Amino acid sequence: MKIAMFSTKPYDRFYFDKYNSKFNFSINYYETSLNKDTANLSSGFDAICAFVNDIIDEETIKILAKNKIGLIALRCAGYNNIDLVAAKNHKIKVVRVPAYSPEAVAEHAMALILTLNRKTHKAYNRVREGNFSLTNLIGFNLHGKTVGVIGTGQIGATFCELIKGFGCKIIAYDIYKNEVLEDNGITYVNLDELFKNSDIISLHCPLNKYTKHIINKASISQMKTDVMIINTSRGALINTANAIEGLITKKIGYLGIDVYEQEENLFFEDLSERIIQDEDILRLMSFPNVLITSHQAFFTKEAMMEITTTTLENLEAFNKKTKLINEVV
Ligand code: NAI
Repeated sequence: MKIAMFSTKPYDRFYFDKYNSKFNFSINYYETSLNKDTANLSSGFDAICAFVNDIIDEETIKILAKNKIGLIALRCAGYNNIDLVAAKNHKIKVVRVPAYSPEAVAEHAMALILTLNRKTHKAYNRVREGNFSLTNLIGFNLHGKTVGVIGTGQIGATFCELIKGFGCKIIAYDIYKNEVLEDNGITYVNLDELFKNSDIISLHCPLNKYTKHIINKASISQMKTDVMIINTSRGALINTANAIEGLITKKIGYLGIDVYEQEENLFFEDLSERIIQDEDILRLMSFPNVLITSHQAFFTKEAMMEITTTTLENLEAFNKKTKLINEVV
């Protein structure tokens, strides 16, 4: 089977080459992302493999269908970047990697919290320059703080376990309650209560029409002054302009984001020699209490191995016409 893989980096090739020996697929690695302008590269292939920031809208899908692509294999968990209705209408199956390593993402959320709080990124730079001063490096104890978790699926539940180990009180909001978490002392509350009572808010729900801009002017106004907001889920859960306003007015005390609403033009690329045109990211980068990582929460050896092997197994199931257990419908 011939596969066109989009948005690939050297690390993708490394892992796919390593595990493909068992499957022997013919894989063409394209560095370019997938969108309506690049979709024609799929000509002559049976399936395509895409990543988080590929734009798989109706126009893109029409071109894939014209090229007789039968499967879109997403090598990620989220599927907000694909028009599922268009895919269905054109009889293209969609598969994903539903859970590869919730620990990887939950641990990164923890890393953002600890770094923002204890300012180890600043201390590292100071000490390297011979500056051993502690001025402005003061943090707070996590012990005893209230942490609000929005979305308690695989990643959110793992995050709850981790932050519980720090002695935090956890309140959560999800459209479905996780009884195991309740048995472990986590209390489900409504969103208003979560916004009002949390010292730290961590987002772990998917991006959809209900969750888009869940962090906005109104929700920020309900929060405690100096709140810490952590987003390792999808950028558009936060209204960026409203978050910037919240930072300027000092309502938001800390913001840690691994995802950003307009990230597809920035993240995963080395732009250090370019003039960045995105005014919002430049403003966010200018705050001393904002920490940005470029969608790296998933990026552990264990997660890459899981993503690669599950994606290859998804492709194999399509190739052998067996049940697509990870189909997105
Ligand atoms: P999951 O499907 O296991 O959990 C999502 C949870 O959100 C579910 O419990 C669901 O009921 C809940 N939910 C759905 N709609 C909601 C709403 N309106 N309000 C509150 N909760 C709602 O997904 P998982 O694996 O925990 O991943 C969560 C998200 O993390 C993904 O959708 C993806 O966007 C993001 N992600 C980010 C990564 C990164 O590298 N930064 C890597 C992997 C996932």
